[in-house]
Amino acid sequence: MNTSNFYRGRRLRSSKSIRHLVRETDLLPRNLVQPFFVLESSDEKDFRPIASMPGQSQLAPAALEEEVARAVDLGLKSVILFGIPAQKNSQAGQAYAPDGIIQQAVQRLKKRFPALVVITDVCLCEYMDHGHCGIIQDQRVQNDPSLDLLAKTALSHAEAGADMVAPSDMMDGRVQAIRDLLDSRGFQELPLMSYAVKYASAYYGPFREAAQSAPSFGDRKTYQMDPGNAREALREAEADIIQGADILMVKPALPYLDIISALRNSFDLPVAAYQVSGEYSQIKAAAQLGWLDEKSVALESITAVKRAGADIIITYFAREILGWVAGNE
Ligand code: PBG
Ligand code: ZN
Repeated sequence: MNTSNFYRGRRLRSSKSIRHLVRETDLLPRNLVQPFFVLESSDEKDFRPIASMPGQSQLAPAALEEEVARAVDLGLKSVILFGIPAQKNSQAGQAYAPDGIIQQAVQRLKKRFPALVVITDVCLCEYMDHGHCGIIQDQRVQNDPSLDLLAKTALSHAEAGADMVAPSDMMDGRVQAIRDLLDSRGFQELPLMSYAVKYASAYYGPFREAAQSAPSFGDRKTYQMDPGNAREALREAEADIIQGADILMVKPALPYLDIISALRNSFDLPVAAYQVSGEYSQIKAAAQLGWLDEKSVALESITAVKRAGADIIITYFAREILGWVAGNE
């Protein structure tokens, strides 16, 4: 047998140092975004662990500030905030109240951590008594009437000092509605990260418990995308680019690596991917049962998302990864 002519891939795997020398994909702290759930509570130190998301909690503003301080010490550069208001109604009034829970949290975080990138999720579901992402009439989510409320919500986040707004509602035209209102109020420079490609996914289950935002009837399939569709992802992304999105997000992440890759190859905007609650919880659950090694699986899954083409990764593991990659194994 002639052994001189076959490819010897093992040459570059023979030691840890050589493997590191040729590694193509690295997770960097500056690319990671940690989500936080901000709780409106009479006790500003209130702290409620989320049963289905071990390690994550609903945090009242003072508790949030302490958690963020610990994460910033570890090297966290960016957060995305979700609100859990005390009051919900049919017009999502607390989503755009100047003293709403997100507006308070943004002010507080920007004051203490001026360099932290504070992104806000812009949606109505957590603030609606029915839990849908838009206004309901005749048992249907109404698209155009919802745009005003979404734009007002984004503006109120901007006025509170947010560094970036991220609409996640999946109403048509919302990027343009938000961009127009922000521009007309002097926020031309504020970046917008669109949840451009958001699938109607069962992986959001734990989040809906965490954010108390499950729809009280029906589902989100009339506005979020069908998991079987890939070409449609390009149409959604293109629509958002035309309307003024600065960053395109794909969500969930690991089950949609093909979509991340397609966006990366089709467009030149930064691409973000959201490793959602169910992706996080399934790793945590398997680890608790002793069936998977948490750290290895978390790092592998997030590296895969980066390798597929995501520049920015939103993950509930962000804080833990900061500790892990510092060791750099
Ligand atoms: C709200 C929103 C959801 C998530 C982010 N923003 C839930 C949903 O659309 O039902 C999911 C995040 C996660 O599962 O971690 N529109
Ligand atoms: Zn929503």
